[in-house]
Amino acid sequence: MALPPAFLDELRLRTPLPGLIGRRTRLAKAGRQWKGCCPFHNEKSPSFYVYDEHFHCFGCGAHGDAFAFLMRAEGASFMEAVERLAAEAGLEVPKPTPEARAREQRARDIHGVLEAAQASYARRLRTAAGAEALAYLKGRGLGEETIARFGLGWSGEGRGALLAELREEGIEPRQLVEAGLMQDREGRLTDLFFNRVMFPIRDRRGRLVSFGGRILGDGQPKYVNGPETAVFSKRRNLYALDLAREACFRGAPLVVAEGYMDVIALHQAGFGGAVAPLGTALTAEQMAELWRVSAEPVLCFDGDTAGARAAGRAAEVALPLLSPEKSLRFATLPAKEDPDSLIRRGGPRAMQAVLDAARPMSEALFGLLAGGTLPDKPEGRALLRNRLVAAANAIPDKALAAEYRRALLDRFFAASKRPDRKAAPRHARPVPDAGAARDARAAILLGICAAHPHLLPEVEEPLALLDYPEGPLRAARDAVLAWLPTAPRLDSADLIAHLAESGIITDFLRRPDLPPGARAEATPAEALEAFWQIFGFLRGEAELVADLQSAAAALTETADAGAQTRLIRLAAALDALRRGEADGDGEGG
Ligand code: UTP
Ligand code: MN
Repeated sequence: MALPPAFLDELRLRTPLPGLIGRRTRLAKAGRQWKGCCPFHNEKSPSFYVYDEHFHCFGCGAHGDAFAFLMRAEGASFMEAVERLAAEAGLEVPKPTPEARAREQRARDIHGVLEAAQASYARRLRTAAGAEALAYLKGRGLGEETIARFGLGWSGEGRGALLAELREEGIEPRQLVEAGLMQDREGRLTDLFFNRVMFPIRDRRGRLVSFGGRILGDGQPKYVNGPETAVFSKRRNLYALDLAREACFRGAPLVVAEGYMDVIALHQAGFGGAVAPLGTALTAEQMAELWRVSAEPVLCFDGDTAGARAAGRAAEVALPLLSPEKSLRFATLPAKEDPDSLIRRGGPRAMQAVLDAARPMSEALFGLLAGGTLPDKPEGRALLRNRLVAAANAIPDKALAAEYRRALLDRFFAASKRPDRKAAPRHARPVPDAGAARDARAAILLGICAAHPHLLPEVEEPLALLDYPEGPLRAARDAVLAWLPTAPRLDSADLIAHLAESGIITDFLRRPDLPPGARAEATPAEALEAFWQIFGFLRGEAELVADLQSAAAALTETADAGAQTRLIRLAAALDALRRGEADGDGEGG
């Protein structure tokens, strides 16, 4: 939802930054601004400044406005930050249409009904009727804190008890059906969950959307999940994503396990970035959700053949979605273990070892496609080779597809030479894939400059600083820089014609993966932002920190506007880099 800029301005105006930030760190007045110890890195002497409209840390480069502060300090999304500040400022966040308003109202109702049900289930776990369920959970190693954190409960025996209880809160039978807690069987309403331990399922923003229920002990079906409703889609949600999102924001790896109990055991053992799909194989939608949180989530699979098949399926779903910024890692559990059982037997250390041994997509893919042994006959080998090439070709990013093609075929031929014809062993030499991501970014950066040459005077120096890969991309960059002082006007068509005349390969103008800010239609501000973001990735953290320090020094010497802008840009680039943001796909921004 795009918010009117005037509303955001008004909201910024009504949110005095020193007040907001002062809740997190002690600020003291320093001239016209405020100063304190940076809440984003450990420091003893203050280098964190708060101005009217933005904050800036000269130590770590943290930088931004009130929304950025909340996003960074609390892991909130942009929309969440807006909503929170609007509530505090007494402003209403504008809603786009009456239909959207109605939809939201209905969704709010369902969330409310589900919350009431959850409270009831949690209460029931503490009654005599829930004693066996509570003992079951404790017997599986869950502590009180974990039970509370995940909001676990006991459904009771069904037979309308939930309805009777919630009716007292003014909730109608129809609402329980809409919320997916009861089903309408030819006019007769029956409970969906009975005699089950209840696992609340929340969406990425922490809103309750459904439940899973487990039978005590053995019995079929072991788990029942709520049906699809207006607020719940099994394909789109991941169990515990709300909790994991925050943990990952603070540096935990995003880990995908198979089941509810695995996720809970992982969190309890300190792996706060654990999530699980909801009883099905990972979908493309769920992968997209994962990539909003982490560039390289780790998928955990059983060590048996079923696990290998599941990993292969996940890889197939992922291939057409891969990009230099979106990949996967594959971790393999010992046979017959899931994370829950592994942690119970071997402790967090055993699990950590499994995660440490996770292999990047580029390395795991060959084994997943080829299976254990290579075929002997030419026909079989040709078939496999075609499959490898087809898999690489499914990757939309051309440069990345080429890298994968080469890596897969390298392995194919290397494995064929071995006398025992075994597929590559698990811990074979890693195939470097950072090169492809770098090339893609270097090309995108040139695409931005070619479409927006008016930016060149501002970005000339940083562009020249970059260590461009040797070859056509470096030649193109050098040609752009050489053109600048000679150009009578900074026109995109002129520049492109000049490059063509100079014999430069201009593939980078036609990349399918250009982020919005890099397209010709982007506004100058969007293009500039995209430039700095990608620059940050290419430059690397250590260099950016050094750049930032020299920019800060330059600013104290010259105090001119250009130095100030440069400092702000570098700080934002470093910030984006540290947050590992994908190119401009933050929620609702
Ligand atoms: P598992 O049977 O591997 O779950 O199913 P688990 O978490 O290890 O179960 P415990 O340890 O015996 O309690 C993995 C996931 O598949 C879904 C559930 O989401 C479960 O967490 N599932 C499983 C179902 O939806 N229905 C079932 O009957 C079984
Ligand atoms: Mn299990």
